[in-house]
Formats: sequence, C-alpha cells, structure tokens
Amino acid sequence: MDLSVNYLGKRFDNPFVLAAGPPSANADMISRAFEAGWAGAVVKTLIKEPVKNYLNRFASNRIGDKIIAFQNIELLSEMTPDDWYRDIKKIKDNYPCKILIASIMGDARSPDQWIELGIGCQEAGADFLELNFSCPHGYPEKGKGAAIGQNAEYSARIVEWIAEEQALNLPVIVKMTGAVPDISYIGEAVAAAGADGFCAINTFPAIMGFDLNTLKPKASVAGYSTAGGYSGPGLKPIALRCVSDLAKSPGLPIMGGGGIDSGYDAAEFILLGASIIQVCTAVMLSGFDIITKLKEELMEFMSWHEFTKIDDFIGIGNKQIKKFSELDNEYSVKASVDHEICRGCTTCFVACRDAGYQAIEIQDMLAQINRAVCRGCSLCFQVCPTGAITMEEC
Ligand SMILES: Cc1cc2nc3c(=O)[nH]c(=O)nc-3n(C[C@H](O)[C@H](O)[C@H](O)COP(=O)(O)O)c2cc1C
Repeated sequence: MDLSVNYLGKRFDNPFVLAAGPPSANADMISRAFEAGWAGAVVKTLIKEPVKNYLNRFASNRIGDKIIAFQNIELLSEMTPDDWYRDIKKIKDNYPCKILIASIMGDARSPDQWIELGIGCQEAGADFLELNFSCPHGYPEKGKGAAIGQNAEYSARIVEWIAEEQALNLPVIVKMTGAVPDISYIGEAVAAAGADGFCAINTFPAIMGFDLNTLKPKASVAGYSTAGGYSGPGLKPIALRCVSDLAKSPGLPIMGGGGIDSGYDAAEFILLGASIIQVCTAVMLSGFDIITKLKEELMEFMSWHEFTKIDDFIGIGNKQIKKFSELDNEYSVKASVDHEICRGCTTCFVACRDAGYQAIEIQDMLAQINRAVCRGCSLCFQVCPTGAITMEEC
C-alpha cells in the first residue's frame, strides 16, 4: 500500500504533517517528529513582534478519561524569525526529503512583513509558505489573524502582494478560519489573487467555561480568561464541512485538519477532498509516536475498500454531500429492534416519547417499535447504547 501523496508538485511520504503549534516549536522537536515518521511539518507561525504568552494558556473538557475538547490562548512562535531561518535550514539540511512548511503572519496594512518573512523562509529552504489568516485570539484585536481571514478583501490583497513579489516563488497555502458564514467566498477571493492551496481549518473561537468549584473561567489567567482557540475532536465536524466546501469551490488542493486523532478521521478528510492531513492537538496529548497509529489505521481503512494509494479516494465522498434541497424527500426508513441485543434500558423509549413520535413502548423489558407510528427520524438509533436498533429502508 502506498501512502505517498503529491501535493502541489512536492512528494510527501505519507499524508501526515504536524500542524503549526507547540509540537513544531523548534528544529529539535520537528526533527524528532520526522524520525518518528511524520512526512512534514508546519513550523509554529513566525511573526516579527516579540511573543510573551499568558499563563495558564490551555484548557480542556473531558468525558471520563478522554479529552474531547481543547482550548488555547497561545500566541505565535516565541523564537525570532532569524532563529527560525537558522532552524529551517538545519532541518532541511538534515531531512531534505521531508516537507517543511513555513507559517507566517504579518500586518494587514502593509506587504513588508509578509514579504520579508516569506523571503527569509524561502532562502532558508522551506518548501511552502502558509499564511496564517486564522488565529482567533490575540491577533484579531490588532487587525491580524482571523481578522484577515474573515475579510475576503484583506485576504486577497495580502495574497496578491505575495504573488506579485518577483523574489518570492514558494507555493502559497492560505490557512483558513472556519468562523465565517461562507468559507468558499473567502477561498474564491484568495484563489483569484494567486493562492495555490488551502489549509482548513485553524482553531475556532470559543469559551471553555468555568471551574464550578473555584468560579474561575478556563483557562484562568489570574482569575480572568478570554475567548480562545477550540481544537481537538469537537472541531472535526466543522473542519470537515469547511474542507468539503473548499473542495467544491474554488477547488485548490487542500491540507485538512481539525480534531484528527485517528487514521479513520484522516480518511474522512481525504474522502471530502483533503490530500494532506495536519494534526496538532492529538500530538500534544499523545506525542509524536501517534504517527504509527495514524498510518496503520489509515491503511486499515484503505484495505477495507481495496484502495492501494491515497489518490484512489481523495474527494470521492464529496459527491455524496449535496445541497439540502437536493436530498430525496421520498426516501423512507423505520426503526427496528433486535431483541437479542436490546437490554430494555428505556433510553430509546424516553427519547421517542419526549422528542420523537411516541412510537416505542417497553414490553417484557424490551423495546417494541410501533411501525405504524414510527416516522423514521432515527433518534432512537442515535441514543441506543447497545446497537440493538437499526433503521430499515421501507
Ligand atoms: C496550543 C496551540 C497552538 C497553536 N499555534 C498555532 C500557530 O502558531 N499557528 C497556526 O497557524 N495554528 C496554530 N494552532 C492551530 C493548529 O495548527 C490547528 O490548526 C488546530 O489546532 C486544529 O487542529 P487540531 O484539532 O489537530 O489541533 C495552534 C493550536 C494549538 C492547540
């Protein structure tokens, strides 16, 4: 099975790349990730202004042991651009076949910082430039980050500056925010301005809530907090929608990310049109070695469907994502219960009684569906903890 991918003319030995973030903070960390098997990395975003992070800067929500939502109020790279140019060169010298993507952020009002950072990274040997138009905290208040990515005109103008700069030849990937009403509209504007590809998506602006014992908001900076960037598994459905929309229009090659912590998650992004997969939070929580699991699970998925290479399934699932009005309103299903599996727990009964069509009764400790009343909404199927309920076409 061949996991290699060609993205904008560069060969990645597998689709998995470290997204810009704490795991790609310096040359040593990126080198260790490459040794573990990552095909590439996006360096933690370079910025000219000095960075001093707040403490604490992370928060999370759990179900049991599992972190299902993560949040950060971290700023961009703490290393200076000059230190990064040295590190980019070092990494590329040691790992010429791995892909290094330089993420940069400049000022919305002037091309100078974008061009300076871009040329510095190009001369150091980076393979791509990723424009951070999407950080949701800290920078929007200064007219940067997501304040750029939420505005088609600002976004297109910056891409144009870079595309028109003769000295800058690296392919340009725009890192998008999902916090916009129509991501294709922004995507079309930057594509027309000369962007080569997309990274979708960055973290989503969010408030994580409170510690109800201390009444401190999460993450607490001396008892106060601010809206930060939401990542991890909860972000995945939003990211999938963004990848699907961008794959449909404007259709430039996509690096997909947001909530990926398995090879199966990656398969879903690829089915919707992503060619490369970016991962941050799962690496923060499990370390670089998660790459082995990601690759194994992706290959397992490929074997189920006899796909031999990634190209076999990039975007094929997007054909099944239609406009709301295009779905078949005559399609009909009804619930059915396997009494060998049902434990009579009443979960489906309560859901159907209070949010459905009152089509379920519990008789002899088993759920019974009244098929004449069932309208096939599938709420019982969603809530059933044992898998006893299936939806049958009728
Ligand atoms: C702590 C933290 C720091 C991040 N820093 C950056 C950054 O410097 N530049 C950037 O473009 N994205 C940054 N991101 C966003 C990630 O690259 C990624 O797009 C996002 O977290 C969604 O993917 P995930 O759910 O796999 O983490 C950061 C994310 C986290 C959690």
